[in-house]
Amino acid sequence: MNIHIFDHEEQLYKEAARRIIDLVQDRPKAVLGLATGSSPLGVYKELIKSYQSHHVSFEHVTTFNLDEYVGLSSDHPQSYRSFMNRELFNHLNIHLKNTFIPSGDSINIHNEPDRYNALLSNYQIDLQLLGIGTNGHIGFNEPGTPFDLLTHVVTLDSRTRTDNARFFHHLDQVPTQAITMGIQSIMNAKEIVLIATGEKKASAVKAMIRGPIDPMLPASILQNHPNVHIYLNHQSAKDL
Ligand code: GLP
Repeated sequence: MNIHIFDHEEQLYKEAARRIIDLVQDRPKAVLGLATGSSPLGVYKELIKSYQSHHVSFEHVTTFNLDEYVGLSSDHPQSYRSFMNRELFNHLNIHLKNTFIPSGDSINIHNEPDRYNALLSNYQIDLQLLGIGTNGHIGFNEPGTPFDLLTHVVTLDSRTRTDNARFFHHLDQVPTQAITMGIQSIMNAKEIVLIATGEKKASAVKAMIRGPIDPMLPASILQNHPNVHIYLNHQSAKDL
């Protein structure tokens, strides 16, 4: 694992975004694995700046998102489709038809993991961007998820629902299920970039890097990936 610790978050986001920008400059048809949550937002701002100043083009890029809530329509403001369009895609020259996100539509949810896995099997993700949950989840792979799963439907941990309640009016409105790329799908990426800031993430970060590889701390499996870059600030790195 390559650990990068920064004094200033602005620098952290610039450096993490630089990995993506360099990749897309070298490989205009790059396949990016993208994440939601607050952790990648600073990176998305840097990608938008770089595109707007004509340093990089996303015209031929394909993206796969990690996860989506079950039961929110894609135009719900808190769906991950809405999040990605609002925070990134609408500001780039990427073609929306090349941006894939699992569908959380509850009517077809039973077929969706197979559909998404079939799509993914046509590509290899060059770089997967990740955040980490306070319980050590990646994507929505909650503690106890076997490491060898591809895309699947999960029941959200109560801690994850509480953490994400800040985006909803009430805890009751936070969906109870989600669909997520599995840990095996994530591990198939050629390179992984994980971002974690703030003291709330410190214990999960320590367990991910120093702890045993254990399904109860899903991110610990990243110790087995040959090309991982972890971007931390002093607060999230404080227990290392
Ligand atoms: C969410 C997402 C994850 C994200 C994590 C951390 O539930 N499914 O992909 O990494 O929680 O979120 P944040 O970056 O807002 O702390």
